[in-house]
Amino acid sequence: MPSLTSSVLVALFSSLASPVASVSYSQTDSFVGSQFNSGFTYEAIADPTNGCVNYVNAATAASQNLTYASDDTFILRSDFTTVLSATGPGRNSVRLQSNEQYGSNTVMVFNIRHMPQGCGTWPAVWTFADPWPTMGEIDILEGVNDQTYNQATLHTSPGCTMPTSRNETGVALTYDCDTAVNGNSGCGVQIQNALSYGPPFNDNGGGWYAVERTDTFIKIWFWARNNNNVPADVQDGNPSVDTDAWGIPFAYFPDTSCSISDHFGAHNIIINLTFCGDWAGSVYSDSSCPSTCVDYVDNNPAAFIDAYFDFAWVKVYG
Ligand SMILES: *[C@@H]1O[C@H](CO)[C@@H](O)[C@H](O)[C@H]1NC(C)=O
Ligand SMILES: *[C@@H]1O[C@H](CO)[C@@H](O)[C@H](O)[C@H]1NC(C)=O
Ligand SMILES: *[C@@H]1O[C@H](CO)[C@@H](O)[C@H](O)[C@H]1NC(C)=O
Repeated sequence: MPSLTSSVLVALFSSLASPVASVSYSQTDSFVGSQFNSGFTYEAIADPTNGCVNYVNAATAASQNLTYASDDTFILRSDFTTVLSATGPGRNSVRLQSNEQYGSNTVMVFNIRHMPQGCGTWPAVWTFADPWPTMGEIDILEGVNDQTYNQATLHTSPGCTMPTSRNETGVALTYDCDTAVNGNSGCGVQIQNALSYGPPFNDNGGGWYAVERTDTFIKIWFWARNNNNVPADVQDGNPSVDTDAWGIPFAYFPDTSCSISDHFGAHNIIINLTFCGDWAGSVYSDSSCPSTCVDYVDNNPAAFIDAYFDFAWVKVYG
């Protein structure tokens, strides 16, 4: 058996002794402008959370200008001109689902200039797959009624809880991710940054949300548009990203007492805007919003002129 030369030994030794190489992800998908129309499907379905919404198909969205694409913009909005009947399904809006599914060892970066605002609005950028909740759900950007802070939440089948102490900058609200407990509130983490949601997010030009999924954790970050420390790969939408350099996420969901691989399958990205319903409707009276949720949404179309997403791009890495 030939003996190893000393140079091979040196090379072997130094490769073992060097620090663990950082994990770099390469871009697999990029959605800009009209690529949202080819990469996502319009789902004209009833809202399972009982929203005051009528999700329209692609043709109706285009004819009513509820979605609009330019070279570097994709807008998704609700109707803001029609007074609605109390007996109808609700305000015309859009729900998009990515054609591709993305599983473990995936990073997604969402560069968002504007998000839907207004009383009764319940916008969300999230991922999941059927059957729910077996395949799990990851809510990245979600809130209701112009609440102060964004909230990131997991929803799972039984047997997935989060430790009380973990390495994140946000504040955990709930710890059991099981949809069957706590009225399906999931395990949520609130980012303590007023620029993360609603009118302040919009006035500041939005920012970047990012999520990393591996078999052992899910991490979610946010950088406001004017943040001085946005990682260059995030800011520029680079062909590859290095999450190890992104710092402490606002939400960290480790596998301490939740098998991430058992509770999360390959997911579609969903972008939707609903009104009232199980969450926005039930807490409406605690907000400073007028009237009742459904009455307000039905009768005040002009209040929803700012109920739109403006995406600069979405990029996926694997
Ligand atoms: C829209 O998003 C919310 C928030 O995640 C979700 O609860 C609701 O079911 C969604 N509606 C539809 C039709 O997907
Ligand atoms: C459609 O929406 C876009 C984006 O909001 C806007 O710039 C454009 O003027 C609208 N077009 C019409 C015909 O209203
Ligand atoms: C928390 O996360 C940061 C960024 O990933 C890392 O540098 C730091 O060592 C972690 N701290 C602990 C206590 O794990």
